[in-house]
Amino acid sequence: MDIIVIILVSTIFLCVFGLCLKSGNKICKSKKRLDGRTCVVTGGTSGIGLEIALDFAMRGARVIVACPFDDEGKVAKEKIIQESGNTNVVYKFLDLGSFKSVREFAADIIQTENRLDILMNNAGVGIPDHKTTDGFHIIMQVNYFGTFLLTILLLPLLKKTGTASDPSRIVNTTSILHRIAMLNLDYLNPDVGCNLFKRIMYYGNSKLCLILFSRELAKRLRGANIVIHNADPGEVGTRIFDSAGVVIGFIISILILILSKTPFEGAQTPVYAAVDETAKKVTARLFRNCTMQSPSSAATDIQLAKGLWEQSVVLVKLSKQELDECLKEN
Ligand SMILES: NC(=O)c1ccc[n+]([C@@H]2O[C@H](COP(=O)([O-])OP(=O)(O)OC[C@H]3O[C@@H](n4cnc5c(N)ncnc54)[C@H](OP(=O)(O)O)[C@@H]3O)[C@@H](O)[C@H]2O)c1
Repeated sequence: MDIIVIILVSTIFLCVFGLCLKSGNKICKSKKRLDGRTCVVTGGTSGIGLEIALDFAMRGARVIVACPFDDEGKVAKEKIIQESGNTNVVYKFLDLGSFKSVREFAADIIQTENRLDILMNNAGVGIPDHKTTDGFHIIMQVNYFGTFLLTILLLPLLKKTGTASDPSRIVNTTSILHRIAMLNLDYLNPDVGCNLFKRIMYYGNSKLCLILFSRELAKRLRGANIVIHNADPGEVGTRIFDSAGVVIGFIISILILILSKTPFEGAQTPVYAAVDETAKKVTARLFRNCTMQSPSSAATDIQLAKGLWEQSVVLVKLSKQELDECLKEN
């Protein structure tokens, strides 16, 4: 009898909690068309990224989706073409866990594309625990350092494309977990073999780094026609939780799917940050549920943002000449 009461009360609690969360979910209402525009969506092949890429394709954009698995990329490309009716969709290989791959991808985009209107930095990993071939913790390299390098290398094309009335946009996909971050600039590349809680913290650190990066980049880009934002998609049932172990990951994904957002719903805030008229008028902001939010106090620390920038430039091996070239005014 007691067990039945506990199950009943828990179910009612979860349903009420889920309804409260779901009632806060917002849809991007912008009808902006993207005909003639070009968008890159990293990780645009599954979960939230696939929905973002589909949205951009439906708005008429040329969409370049990028991921580290050719099979998945080609399947995603076909799916986007089929569902949107837009044939201007391309898949390109990109492994954010390899600086060489990031450089090759960026060089290819710079050489073959004549414009870049939206860089959607969506790709990310959950909480795996191994080193990349560059010797970085996978969470930090894929979620932050790879994204940092890619963004810097694509700046010349973004600057060339943006205009005062229609700036190009960079959107970094962050998370509510940036609030639990404990960032140490002397330990940006943590050791592997850590417990679950540390890995969650490193995930939070990587997402805090993205917000700090946006802040510092916006400062250094003052005068350029580029807007850079952070989008927190909310809690979304996707494969990202698989890295907690297949069974636990599956249970978390299903629970979140029931209680919170589908990938389509998760895509709404990043899309909002990339296309909405209001979001165009500000820069380096954080959005959640298509609404501007204040980030954690660490995310507004100017000195931390500057220190992180300086360390990142060294760690991803950007030369001064290269950096100056990417940041210089048109
Ligand atoms: N789901 C949530 O509740 C949630 C909450 C807050 C923030 N986010 C963020 O939202 C973004 C999308 O996550 P999701 O939930 O949609 O997860 P997902 O379904 O696992 O999608 C992640 C995407 O990133 C790609 N990716 C992974 N490693 C990569 C690498 N080394 N190089 C290039 N691409 C790589 C994946 O490609 P492959 O599939 O080919 O590996 C996949 O397309 C992530 O940045 C995540 O941190 C998610």
